[in-house]
Amino acid sequence: MTTKRHSRFTFSPARLSRWALAACAFAAAPAFPASPGAADTAAAVPPAVQQMAQEIAAELAQNCPVAPAGDVGAYNTCRQALFADSVLREHLPKFVLWGRQSKDPQATLRQTNLTQFAPDVWTNMYAPLFMFNGKHTVQWVPEEKRFLVRLEAAFRNRLPPGQFPYPFWHEEAKWSMYQSANAFMLWVDPATQKIQAAQFTDRAPNAPLQAVQPVQHAFEGSWLWTDAQGRTQPAVTLFDGVYRAENPYAKVLDRQYRDLALQLRESQCTKCHVPNNPDKMSRLVLLSTPAHAAGEIERLIKSVKEDRMPMDEFRLSYALPEENKKWLLERAEAFRATVSAAQAWEQQQAALRPRQLRTSASGGSPSPTEGWQPAAASSINQQKGTHP
Ligand code: HEC
Repeated sequence: MTTKRHSRFTFSPARLSRWALAACAFAAAPAFPASPGAADTAAAVPPAVQQMAQEIAAELAQNCPVAPAGDVGAYNTCRQALFADSVLREHLPKFVLWGRQSKDPQATLRQTNLTQFAPDVWTNMYAPLFMFNGKHTVQWVPEEKRFLVRLEAAFRNRLPPGQFPYPFWHEEAKWSMYQSANAFMLWVDPATQKIQAAQFTDRAPNAPLQAVQPVQHAFEGSWLWTDAQGRTQPAVTLFDGVYRAENPYAKVLDRQYRDLALQLRESQCTKCHVPNNPDKMSRLVLLSTPAHAAGEIERLIKSVKEDRMPMDEFRLSYALPEENKKWLLERAEAFRATVSAAQAWEQQQAALRPRQLRTSASGGSPSPTEGWQPAAASSINQQKGTHP
């Protein structure tokens, strides 16, 4: 494997942050003074990985610079850039793992609960929630057998609730770490140079990029809700802000997701595939919003066809009754067709004319980001409360 190419040095954690800058000097040095007790061991980071990190950091700093934490326009500019043909996206595998750094500093990635996301989902709704200044470090982490690119970052905690993929505040500790995040971590596979996992942390050595004004939200018990204007929220889960306002499939997508969601509930899928992770999956799969389900639709259909899903409480797969299976697959296939049509339409438009977004920033039609007090009024959620 790659270890052959990498001579190893041990050096103190304090030097790690300067690693990127000093990489050339290190490469020439015969050895680096070992610091007793230092846990970090670094290999010379190959130029290709350094360059990849540099390009991603530059792209993030350019499209997602530090801005006021509630600036929806800045957020959407970042989303559009990352969702499109970004360098970040180029380096994503079919599914990327995402989540908080474990509270336990010794925990390995393997021991850390993470969620699986298709690139569409992660670049639309998760990565753009962070802002960057371009400062980063790259190191080889022997315990993980992966390169770690750590970027200084801040979190957009003051966005309207419908701009988050689901109410992160359903869990106090999660919302708290998101709010005070100061770095974004990319775990790069040495063989493929793909980002297999990404994490955020509030324990990076750098100072916060800007002062954080914490926001309090009350969790209303729903992953999806309807706001006072009758619009489905979170708006980002209907691709609001990355798809064009005139996308003729947006409404259908919403309706067909609701149809699908009824079948998912009927077939027990929502007992496990929701953000509060009732089944304690170590690699959670989310189906709880249109965008999340869109990212999983191929695997969803396949796993139901093959009777791998659903599972019982012992995690044993079982086949759905014929009738349920038929309806679920029918709804899923209809939803998949609309997802593809919506994507194809966007691609066509991209070639034809500049974008007009359904956001307050673009000043178009009334935006789902305005008047954002979450209304408990009507819920189209599959699941209420954290303990169904
Ligand atoms: C008892 C909990 C449980 C229930 C109920 C359940 N799943 Fe799963 N599902 C899991 C687990 C566990 C995994 C494996 C995650 C992993 O990769 O570690 C999984 C994985 C998946 C995946 C992604 C990976 C793959 O196999 O392709 C999809 C899609 C999925 N489930 C869909 C469904 C659907 C649709 C239903 C309802 C028909 C359902 N699940 C019901 C627990 C459950």
